[in-house]
Amino acid sequence: MKRFFKWLFSLILIGLLAWFLYAYATSTNDFQQQTAAPKNPIKAIVYSDYGVANLKLLDIEKPAPTDDQILVRVHAASINPYDWHFIEGTPYVMRAMGVGLRKPKNIRLGSDFAGTVEAVGKNVTQYKPGDEVFGGSAGSWAQYLCRRSTGSVALKPAALSFEQAAAINIARITALQAVRDHGKVQPGQKVLINGASGGVGTFAVQIAKSYGAEVTGVCSARNTELVQSLGADHVIDYAKDDFTKGDQRYDVVIDNVANHSLSECRKVLTPNGIYVMIGGGGAIEQGFLGAIGNVLKAQLYSRFVKQKMGFMMAQPSTADLTLLAGMVESGKLKTVIDRTYKLDQVPEAVRYVEEGHARGKVIVTVD
Ligand SMILES: NC(=O)c1ccc[n+]([C@@H]2O[C@H](COP(=O)([O-])OP(=O)(O)OC[C@H]3O[C@@H](n4cnc5c(N)ncnc54)[C@H](OP(=O)(O)O)[C@@H]3O)[C@@H](O)[C@H]2O)c1
Repeated sequence: MKRFFKWLFSLILIGLLAWFLYAYATSTNDFQQQTAAPKNPIKAIVYSDYGVANLKLLDIEKPAPTDDQILVRVHAASINPYDWHFIEGTPYVMRAMGVGLRKPKNIRLGSDFAGTVEAVGKNVTQYKPGDEVFGGSAGSWAQYLCRRSTGSVALKPAALSFEQAAAINIARITALQAVRDHGKVQPGQKVLINGASGGVGTFAVQIAKSYGAEVTGVCSARNTELVQSLGADHVIDYAKDDFTKGDQRYDVVIDNVANHSLSECRKVLTPNGIYVMIGGGGAIEQGFLGAIGNVLKAQLYSRFVKQKMGFMMAQPSTADLTLLAGMVESGKLKTVIDRTYKLDQVPEAVRYVEEGHARGKVIVTVD
């Protein structure tokens, strides 16, 4: 019996290895077909292999909307750490989860966009040609994209520029859902935001203030004034002070950097405090599991402590996009735009965001 199970185990292992090698060797994409002499060419950032050095601005076929899709002429897009997960193929587990083992399956990149609807599929009732829209869609670093008419897309208020609207989807939805849904921030609560000067942080500071919280932002000295100007009541320079070593206790900690252990972060929570982990780690520091490892650690750890400690994943929402656009329109939320790049400068922009020190959002304008 023991021998049988040994053989069975070895066979399963060999089978898995053979499957992996086959899947790896045959992992490919349609880069050649998509970039070979398109009849209706549009410019798009594409890549055939992982790595920022492989990003290219090339002509590809203009997409056509299916019955449930809208075709959008993109005017602005933004760059998020989310994008470099696809560019670098990290954490590696993502490759096995459908992104592409050896080569990326989808050759187009980008996620946040703002633009004008040019055509709609026959089942689309929410939008019409000429509408200005914004939200999230794969392949936003291009002159055109097609996406479903539902999910992360909403009408852009006329008062918002395309650049302001392109900054909303990932970073702002994450900040809103962290403060409102996961942190459940209440007026008068003490809230600490680690990584207060980046894409998510600059919005989280303002949103927590709009919920009536007393906000402490953690950032580098060069960003102190910026974070104060967004409404933070206190600012900690992370090069001088470690927030986990201070005496102050917080009702909610929103962590965009995850550079302290869970037990260190727990020490600064009030007895019923909430810790919301959003992200952290650079493009080449993701290893095999990346944030998934943090999710598991936080889930396990929170079972043994009184405080609520967990990882959050932002959820697409048209209602939240509309809410946030309204907050920008009414002046309740400022959009901090660090740098603006042209479509052909996307590789440079990605390298900048990969350094991990963006101040607010990095935007791409598309002619
Ligand atoms: N879970 C989700 O659904 C979700 C959604 C969006 C983003 N994320 C993740 O959240 C993280 C933040 O995203 P982001 O768009 O805000 O990134 P980002 O725009 O690149 O901002 C990074 C910020 O981190 C700050 N920072 C770097 N080292 C720090 C330290 N030791 N202490 C405090 N701040 C530090 C930088 O400020 P200085 O220049 O002052 O150093 C910079 O402003 C990323 O890991 C991203 O992948 C997760």
